[in-house]
Amino acid sequence: MNSLQATHLSLVFPARNLPRVFELDRGNRFACRVKSPKFSSCLVSDAQQKVDASLEPASRESKEVMEMERNVFVGTYARAPVVIKSGRGCKLYDVDGKEYLDMTAGIAVNSLGHGDRDWLNAVVEQANTLTHVSNVYYSIPQVTLGKRLVESSFADRVFFTNSGTEANEAAIKFARKFQRFSHPDKKLPATEFIAFTNSFHGRTMGALALTSKEQYRLPFEPVMPGVTFIEYGNSEEAKKAIQPGKIAAVFVEPIQGEGGIYSATKDFLQALRTACDEAGALLVFDEVQCGLGRTGHLWAHEAFGVMPDMMTLAKPLAGGLPIGVVLTTERVAAAISSGDHGSTFAGGPLVCHAALAVLNKIQEPSFLASVTRKGLYLKELLLKKLEGNPHVKEIRGFGLIVGIELDVQASPLVDACRDAGLLVLTAGKGNVVRLVPPLVVSKEELEQAAEVLSACLPSLDGNTSNK
Ligand SMILES: Cc1ncc(COP(=O)(O)O)c(C=O)c1O
Repeated sequence: MNSLQATHLSLVFPARNLPRVFELDRGNRFACRVKSPKFSSCLVSDAQQKVDASLEPASRESKEVMEMERNVFVGTYARAPVVIKSGRGCKLYDVDGKEYLDMTAGIAVNSLGHGDRDWLNAVVEQANTLTHVSNVYYSIPQVTLGKRLVESSFADRVFFTNSGTEANEAAIKFARKFQRFSHPDKKLPATEFIAFTNSFHGRTMGALALTSKEQYRLPFEPVMPGVTFIEYGNSEEAKKAIQPGKIAAVFVEPIQGEGGIYSATKDFLQALRTACDEAGALLVFDEVQCGLGRTGHLWAHEAFGVMPDMMTLAKPLAGGLPIGVVLTTERVAAAISSGDHGSTFAGGPLVCHAALAVLNKIQEPSFLASVTRKGLYLKELLLKKLEGNPHVKEIRGFGLIVGIELDVQASPLVDACRDAGLLVLTAGKGNVVRLVPPLVVSKEELEQAAEVLSACLPSLDGNTSNK
């Protein structure tokens, strides 16, 4: 058996990792008795020592995995040279046993951290009962989750998909159908869309058309026609562009994630709401990344007090299993008939039961309050540790979606942090460090993250590239 086969086996039979799991579960989350062969990322005071530790070459097992990927995969991902094998709480472990503090949460997905007991029990229980059934039939977890989402939001109706991009595709179709349904005598009802600079709505042809970064869109043109991009936050330009009979819907992220952690204002979202109402256009909030507790509110738009006609969700809802959602008002749903849209996998019993376990936790007012508290603490720590460094231009965001804008590309800092046992992401034009940790992250873990980031800042010196 080669080392790659051994990796597969240990993934299938995770009992090989149990000693670490048990230690962490005994309530000693920060004592971290699992020793990395190189260094531990558990102690805040270790930060400088970790930064100083030189990066050892990848092990044979890591190299084999990376080489196999290079040989057989379509090259869509520029992956970091780490082969992650297991996770528990806010910690991830690579095949060599090196521990990482995870401030990425699978890009805002693993809100309950890795291996949450209640989530795991829900998955095992449902897998034992019924994993998949076609949408030709009803299933209890799907209907229960749908009812719960509707009852917890502005919406009257729900539609399930498998991902964020699919949720936006569904919202595009619903908006077009709504316009047709609302103006049956018009030969050409409103079919166009407004989106914003720095937006990211997905990579399928409709959602991609709403995504501002040209680098994602241009190689695949023609994408869906009829999208106008307006500067994010520019209410006046948006009002001019939202024209009756032309614009079917406006898509906006209340907080932009991929685009660089830019937050909308109440005035901006309210201006969009008013302009949409006047023009008969729909307002769609994409909360795929910022929704479901990440801001300390269940829905990010609650912070602004402005309601959409539709909202799309995905990433964290099923705790790491693929799911997407469109929530919509009755007025919009009334335009949709049977056969207008559908999906084989969407809203399957397994993902829906898992999602209920996630919602049970994140919907708790005390849980949401803890996210707000930790978000404030994180910003305070980052301001204390990083502000004053000439490369740090701004620290922004709220709740546990935070961006550190730099005057140079962030990748040397991201790489240095990774070598030091801290996983963070980039955003924006590559000049923003993005922190979207599991929402269960502890204060000590936030301190550790700020410490490592601060210790790694010298990696930016001498780097003058901001492209
Ligand atoms: C705001 C937003 N919308 C849509 C998407 C697309 O979601 P998915 O990758 O699940 O298709 C993302 C993904 O990052 C996102 O951040």
